[in-house]
Amino acid sequence: MKKATMILSKDFSIGQTDERLFGSFVEHMGSVVYNGIYEPGHVTADEEGFRGDVLELVKELNLSMVRYPGGNFTSGYNWEDGIGPRENRPVKLDLAWRQIEPNSFGLDEFMKWLGKVGADPIMTVNLGTRGIDEARNMIEYCNFSGGSQWSDLRKSHGVEKPYGIKTWCLGNELDGEWQIARKTAEAYGLLACETAKAMRWVDPSIELVAVGSSARHMPTFPEWDKTVLMHTYEHADYLSLHNYIGKKEADTATYLAMPLDMERQIREVIATCDYVQSRKRSNKTMYLSFDEWNVWRAPDVEYTPWQTGSPYDWVKFHMEDALVFGSAMLTILRNADRIRIACQSLLVNTIPMILTEKGGQAWRNPTFYPFAHVSQFGRGTVLRNVLNTPKYDTSVYTDVPVIDSLSVYNEEKAELTVFALNRSSEDVQLETDIRDFNDFTLHQHIVMKNNNLSAVNTAEAPLTVVPRLCDDSSMDNGLLSSRIAPYSWNVIRLKVKGDQR
Ligand code: AHR
Repeated sequence: MKKATMILSKDFSIGQTDERLFGSFVEHMGSVVYNGIYEPGHVTADEEGFRGDVLELVKELNLSMVRYPGGNFTSGYNWEDGIGPRENRPVKLDLAWRQIEPNSFGLDEFMKWLGKVGADPIMTVNLGTRGIDEARNMIEYCNFSGGSQWSDLRKSHGVEKPYGIKTWCLGNELDGEWQIARKTAEAYGLLACETAKAMRWVDPSIELVAVGSSARHMPTFPEWDKTVLMHTYEHADYLSLHNYIGKKEADTATYLAMPLDMERQIREVIATCDYVQSRKRSNKTMYLSFDEWNVWRAPDVEYTPWQTGSPYDWVKFHMEDALVFGSAMLTILRNADRIRIACQSLLVNTIPMILTEKGGQAWRNPTFYPFAHVSQFGRGTVLRNVLNTPKYDTSVYTDVPVIDSLSVYNEEKAELTVFALNRSSEDVQLETDIRDFNDFTLHQHIVMKNNNLSAVNTAEAPLTVVPRLCDDSSMDNGLLSSRIAPYSWNVIRLKVKGDQR
């Protein structure tokens, strides 16, 4: 059997995870909102029209934040269309996704739904077709206590206390040719800077995300990022990055290695931020907001435009997608010293963690589980693994680690969690030296695997790809021995002896 070894020590730490790393994304896109989280008339819908079955699944993900309302949608959206009495709200064309937007779900409904989820918002303002004026009005509506036009309007809608939304994105993917009203880096940088100033004058406590390159393959990457930061370095707290990892024509070995490109993207964006810091002779560190990340696979349902709630990129992810997804999540955590915000994209129905059928069931895509595991057990101090693993080559990548692993120590809960995935078709024996955690004992080993890498969860068989407890780990004298099964996702949990909460 192949072997890998690892050493974990409390002294080798990368950094603390920010609470906001465990976020997701709700956009007015396809059936994310309409027929997704919101479907009045569904048997499980509450008095607000929020689907109860979806809400219960969302709660299992333990989300810290949810980004809203887009995405590309934001660049043509008038946020005022979605507030106030429903009968007065206009029906509009959304040009981003070519859909009919009835505006029956808007900012106030989102905040109500989010309250039920128990997460914080990350709100995006429209810097495509709109600008400073709308952004300052929106933050006045959301965060100002009262006695002004927009704050009093909020109160008249029954929301007495301001929402106090802390994190705001200054637009979305404005370097993209697909974007409504894209900009040059110069034009966007200046607009973002001036919008940031105005928003902060309304509420100085907010944090702002400037738009970075929408993908590493953009011809303007990383020049766009540099130019935008030259304009916004003093006013923004984070720079955004996005990545959708798609298998397309690749073989499994290559697909499983693709998160290595994500690691490279993060390194390159950090280097760009630090270059600007140096140009500016600044003491301020620019942090990253990975506010759209996911795997991508061609949809199972063809999109019908100019509808409301028509499924867009509605896809049943495969077992192998869940492995790549888990690896992407570990990549983000491995950079917890610089990434402070991360949003899986999107939550429901569009390349989602949760699938629904209109008037029917809701169930978990296989990617749901790695997210839930990392969200539940991956908060704390990220440890720097000293990992020795077999490696492999593909036509695209060389020296791909067969074992991808990351560990998180939660001192408060007295827990140590080892996440590990096996990119190969053979068993690997992973020997982890945890003598530094000598008061810890094995609590459980959770594994998710399926002999069929194309296995999916369906409405009829929603539990085909699920994690289970296994006996593949043991502990002896500070040595944790684990069998990491072929193409498997593993969560090995250790706790202080006697504390088996
Ligand atoms: O699939 C979601 C979309 O992908 C977002 O609207 C956009 O920001 C990205 O291109």
